[in-house]
Amino acid sequence: MLQALKESIEYLKRKIGDFEPEVGIVLGTGLGGLVKDINVKHSIMYSSIPNFPISTLEFHSGKLIFGELEGKKVVAMQGRLHYYEGYSMQQITFPIRVLKSLGIKHLFVSNAAGSLNSDFKKGDLMIIDDHINLQTESPLRGINDSDLGPRFPDMSEPYNRKLIASGLKIAKKEDITCHKGVYVAVTGPNLETKAEYKYLRIIGGDAVGMSTVPEVIVANHMGLPVFAISVLTDEGFPEILLPFSLEEILETAAKAEPKMTTILSQLISSL
Ligand code: HPA
Repeated sequence: MLQALKESIEYLKRKIGDFEPEVGIVLGTGLGGLVKDINVKHSIMYSSIPNFPISTLEFHSGKLIFGELEGKKVVAMQGRLHYYEGYSMQQITFPIRVLKSLGIKHLFVSNAAGSLNSDFKKGDLMIIDDHINLQTESPLRGINDSDLGPRFPDMSEPYNRKLIASGLKIAKKEDITCHKGVYVAVTGPNLETKAEYKYLRIIGGDAVGMSTVPEVIVANHMGLPVFAISVLTDEGFPEILLPFSLEEILETAAKAEPKMTTILSQLISSL
């Protein structure tokens, strides 16, 4: 792992020179629009970076975008990698390790998720304040490299409390409906049955999705503070469950995206 990291970093440093990002951003499904607000300095295809997995989803464009957002040096992952694409947990979280090695001090993560909480409606936002991992393995399984982090990382506060409070404050000021809740990570790519949505609600979930948690575990392993936000793109309410439509999900994500961008931009500006 350290050797692979070294190769990727050497390649990227040759491309970006002395640009040192302070903030890393992972953009979720249908949520790549934040990139429009970045004053782009370098844009690098995943496929050109040694050891980087390539996103297999055609609607994820798969680029690392280096630039300035709100006066801060950022690096955004446009196109995230999912476990269901067939990669290992180590592969999908490798980019987070690369971003940390490039110097980021904070990680911001976004995703599209299904609501489990009947008070949280389609199109609302939810800041993640805790999670339940139902994915089948941890990205930390295997021999631990203590240069990267501890064998048994603490997960008592996986999402930074101060950033959560600031995010909620910004949402209130901007009159954006934004909840706080528990994200349940499932493997996917199939959606949930009615019985599964019911179960996820019973065990304490407010939203369900197929991403984010591996990245958050790896960030915590490396002591990197995290802020994560979900756009609720559908309602997993067993009583009224409708068939899943990717078009609808992408449409809802696109509509809610400016609200999410407002929160992320102002939070990053306040760092
Ligand atoms: N379930 C799982 N993943 C999702 C959902 C969902 O309802 N919506 C968006 N991603």
